Order: sequence, then C-alpha cells, then structure tokens
Amino acid sequence: MEINIREEYQADHDAVFALIEKAFEKLALSDHREQFLVQRLRKSAAFVPELSMVAETERKIVGHILLTKLKIKNGQDEFDSLALAPVSVLPEYQGKGVGSMLIQEAHKKARTLGYQSIVLLGHEKYYPKFGYKPAHNFGIECPFDLPKENCMAIELTENGLDGVYGTVEYAKEFSE
Ligand SMILES: CC(C)(COP(=O)(O)OP(=O)(O)OC[C@H]1O[C@@H](n2cnc3c(N)ncnc32)[C@H](O)[C@@H]1OP(=O)(O)O)[C@@H](O)C(=O)NCCC(=O)NCCS
Repeated sequence: MEINIREEYQADHDAVFALIEKAFEKLALSDHREQFLVQRLRKSAAFVPELSMVAETERKIVGHILLTKLKIKNGQDEFDSLALAPVSVLPEYQGKGVGSMLIQEAHKKARTLGYQSIVLLGHEKYYPKFGYKPAHNFGIECPFDLPKENCMAIELTENGLDGVYGTVEYAKEFSE
C-alpha cells in the first residue's frame, strides 16, 4: 500500500469529516465530536494550513492529522508551541503504519516552519515511540483534569523546550 502524506485542501474537508467520525466512532473515551473540533479549528487563529495533513492511498483519504498553535504560559512569560489533536485513521486502515507516518511527517513540517515543540493529550503507550515524554518532565502542565502521564511533549529541535515551562493554554475552540 503506497501512502502519500500531503497538506489538506478545502476539497478534502468532507472526506476528512467523515473519516474522523468513523475513526472515533467506537472509541469509548471519545465524545464523538472530534470532526466538529477540526471544523472549528480550521477557522481559528490557531490554524496553520500546512499543519493539517492527510494520508492518501489510490486517491482515497485514509488518515488525517492536525497541529494547531498553542501557548505555554508562566506568569508574564509565554512561549509558542503546537497541539497535536486529533489524529485519525479509517478503521480498516488502522495498524498499518498510517498513523505513524502522519505523526512523523507532521513533525517534519512543523520543524521546517520553525516550531520547536509539540504538546498532546494522549495514550501514554502510543506516543513515546515518536519521542514524546511526560510534559511534567519539562515543567509543563496541561489544563485539563486528566492523569499527568497523558500530557506529553516532544522537542522538535535540540533543547527546544529549554527554559520553556508553565501551563498549556489551548486555542479556545478546544473548549467550545
Ligand atoms: C491512533 C491511530 C491514529 C493510530 O493510527 P494507526 O495507523 O492505527 O497506527 P500505526 O499503524 O502507525 O500504529 C503504530 C503503533 O501504535 C500502536 N497503536 C495503534 N493505535 C493505538 C492506540 N489507540 N493505543 C495504543 N497503541 C496503539 C500499534 O499497535 C503500533 O504499534 P507497533 O508500531 O509497536 O506495532 C488510529 O488507530 C486511530 O485513528 N484511532 C482512533 C482515533 C484515535 O484514538 N486517535 C488518537 C487520539 S487523538
């Protein structure tokens, strides 16, 4: 299966909506509204078009990943970073490496755009293989009431989180 990862275009929005809906459909921990979150984020100030990416095979979109801008705040200091959320692969294409490709390509693109780190809320067993570590190791806290180990961060550049600590402030669209 040949997979191509590319930027998402407007013409992909309907396919991506349906794909996210299906990817999260059977997930107990989901509110099943991630497709609407992506719609809101595309219209938000946090949106970076190059960081909404799709995985395509034989002209069919089978995966999607979104990175949006966030701030890490500590008193008067604030630092730019990115949120990874959500990442979705069509159920029948899961477990074939598509999610891994999306994450790695999104990291590369974010790095070329000058971003130094990414923060996410996710499964503590899935993301460490891509280099994510508990965010509290860096002195970074997530604002939601979730187990600490689910808040993770990665440095995209060497020491990309040096001197960066505080509480993550997500785009307001995450809480709507
Ligand atoms: C999570 C998801 C994006 C992963 O995509 P994928 O294409 O299935 O992942 P890959 O095939 O690249 O799998 C990579 C590894 O992660 C593991 N893995 C996949 N999904 C996992 C999950 N939900 N939890 C823990 N591990 C998982 C795989 O076993 C595989 O491990 P290995 O490399 O040691 O064999 C996909 O399963 C999905 O869309 N799930 C529903 C939506 C979701 O949970 N999104 C993440 C929260 S935003």
